[in-house]
Amino acid sequence: MDEAAALLRACEVARRGRHEVEPNPMVGCVLLRDGELIAEGWHRAYGGPHAEVEALRVAGERAAGATAVVTLEPCSTRGKTGACTEALVAAGIRRVVVGAVDPNPAHAGAAFPALRAQGIEVDVQVSLAAEALLELFKQLLPRPRPWVIAKWAQSADGCVALAPRDGLPQPVQLSGPEAHARLHDWRAHLDGLIVGVGTVLADDPQLTVRGRSPVRPLRRVVLDPSLRTPPGSVLASSAGEHPCWLMCTPEASESREDSLRAQGVSVFRLPLAPGRDDLLPDALACLHTQGLGRVMVEGGPRTHARLLAESLADAVAVILSPKHLGADGLPALPGERLPSEPAALAERLGLASWEAEALGDDLLLRGTWRRV
Ligand SMILES: NC(=O)c1ccc[n+]([C@@H]2O[C@H](COP(=O)([O-])OP(=O)(O)OC[C@H]3O[C@@H](n4cnc5c(N)ncnc54)[C@H](OP(=O)(O)O)[C@@H]3O)[C@@H](O)[C@H]2O)c1
Repeated sequence: MDEAAALLRACEVARRGRHEVEPNPMVGCVLLRDGELIAEGWHRAYGGPHAEVEALRVAGERAAGATAVVTLEPCSTRGKTGACTEALVAAGIRRVVVGAVDPNPAHAGAAFPALRAQGIEVDVQVSLAAEALLELFKQLLPRPRPWVIAKWAQSADGCVALAPRDGLPQPVQLSGPEAHARLHDWRAHLDGLIVGVGTVLADDPQLTVRGRSPVRPLRRVVLDPSLRTPPGSVLASSAGEHPCWLMCTPEASESREDSLRAQGVSVFRLPLAPGRDDLLPDALACLHTQGLGRVMVEGGPRTHARLLAESLADAVAVILSPKHLGADGLPALPGERLPSEPAALAERLGLASWEAEALGDDLLLRGTWRRV
């Protein structure tokens, strides 16, 4: 395999990171030795190892003396995972072929002198396929808010929960074990998880990563204008262990804030513009300022309705369960039972692109409003 073909292959494997890496770019890497492909890797998940590190891990000692063909200039600063330039040097890579220069002006071209100083040949072979992988990343670079994924599980009759009966909650588990496992894989790679206070009051959820180690510190965020989150809730009482941030208006009760803070909860009073009652734009800006890059909004219906109405979601992940909830079902959007067939749901949501995947007895619909 020659270097041009290896670069195309690296672009192909990079695309496997779609839906999992945003707002990071999709990146792929192929290692060549004497014209033979000895390893490939791609950036699999936000916060996880970069493509070069994945490929080096696969190659092991065979990486020494090899050529690394990478779709994007390797990172030269220690970000979430450590500098890839250092990993390439440590593995004994002899030559690096790069398909696109880092579009971030703060980093562009910085890897090349760092690699050359260690005796590694660097060849920038700018490729349209490699540039195309960066389209979304370039659009998102100047944006002052995180990548937002709207996530919910819905029944075959378009509902997300059962309404209380005779004043008593009716708990229901819509997603099966496979979907549940996927949810926790996602949570492990997020910076934040957002819910509305209605969900806290109805379900008293934990909103933690279970069954695997979080790759990033997961901040549990509640949109709670009047600080209705009970200080005794699971979220508030576990705030010392798992960060819990409440977003409220300047008018929220100060004594309530004191009780919540005593539990270790962080309270953010967001200055809403006059006549506005929607916390979301300010909450997302606040999370960006706090360094959060990727967040998931896990409901409930009123929160999702606002998120969608304001076009503040970038992507969606919907678990479509075969279960029916019947007359007691709470519609997925207020007053609206959403379609359960993937194409019809994608059309209703106005997604620019989408795909469906079987997860045990459930279906997973993933899509995005971004045309890239
Ligand atoms: N199946 C699923 O995937 C899933 C996931 C989550 C929840 N659920 C279910 O959904 C139900 C709760 O849903 P819900 O619609 O009643 O409540 P919700 O969406 O969790 O919370 C709504 C409340 O949060 C606050 N809020 C949300 N977005 C806001 C914004 N942009 N600006 C200002 N305030 C905002 C408001 O609080 P105030 O009322 O204080 O103004 C609003 O009334 C529960 O039954 C739960 O089990 C299902």
